[in-house]
Amino acid sequence: MKQTGGSEAGKRRAGESAAELPSDGEVVGLGTGSTAAHAIRALGDRVDAGLDVRGIPTSFQARQLAQEAGIPLTTLEEATVDIAIDGADQVADSGALVKGGGGAHAREKFVDADADRFIVVADPSKLATSLDYPVPIEVLPDARRPVADAVRAAGGDPTLRVAERKDGPVVTDNGNLLLDCAFGAIAEPDALAATLSAVPGVVEHGLFVGLADELHVGSDDDVEVRPVESAD
Ligand code: A5P
Repeated sequence: MKQTGGSEAGKRRAGESAAELPSDGEVVGLGTGSTAAHAIRALGDRVDAGLDVRGIPTSFQARQLAQEAGIPLTTLEEATVDIAIDGADQVADSGALVKGGGGAHAREKFVDADADRFIVVADPSKLATSLDYPVPIEVLPDARRPVADAVRAAGGDPTLRVAERKDGPVVTDNGNLLLDCAFGAIAEPDALAATLSAVPGVVEHGLFVGLADELHVGSDDDVEVRPVESAD
């Protein structure tokens, strides 16, 4: 799992707080990353204690954790998502997010977007006034060069994500490549999101705009729960 900033205690408090929300009969989107992992484990504890939920994982990692935690699984073919719980790499005051530090943002986006309520779990190191974290873009392998050109034309600086314990690039759960694209401060995340979505060969980018409903920010000794005012 990639290493991110923030204390483990803060991530755990955020994850555990969000895991209290699902009710009997609900379908839960299971996010990816170190913070969402705490929510999955805590939800597993509630399932052990009798909670009747089904999960829809957003990655290989989330599926494996859910299976280990004993959470019954379903798919988007069979169910709609009542509540999704997922982490973020950066959270702006507006509620816009950058996701995809773990390369799972394509599946995360369609699961989180399907949810009636999308709960973001984070620690204070993720909070920012506006977004400036490099935006991960999942690309079809054959489209890497033209997509990189389009990112540069949009003012970004793309870098192919390389694996740490394998020679060559990171390959996503969907068999694609990742470009981490630095744009500096992103003044209009919704406009950039639309621009990137329109580039042929882009599978998905990590800007999540207007999707989050509630933010659980865990610190060493507390959890702050904030509604996201701009959510649709
Ligand atoms: C996975 O691709 C990401 O979107 C994660 O949700 C995000 O990187 C947050 O991960 P951490 O909780 O590990 O920081």
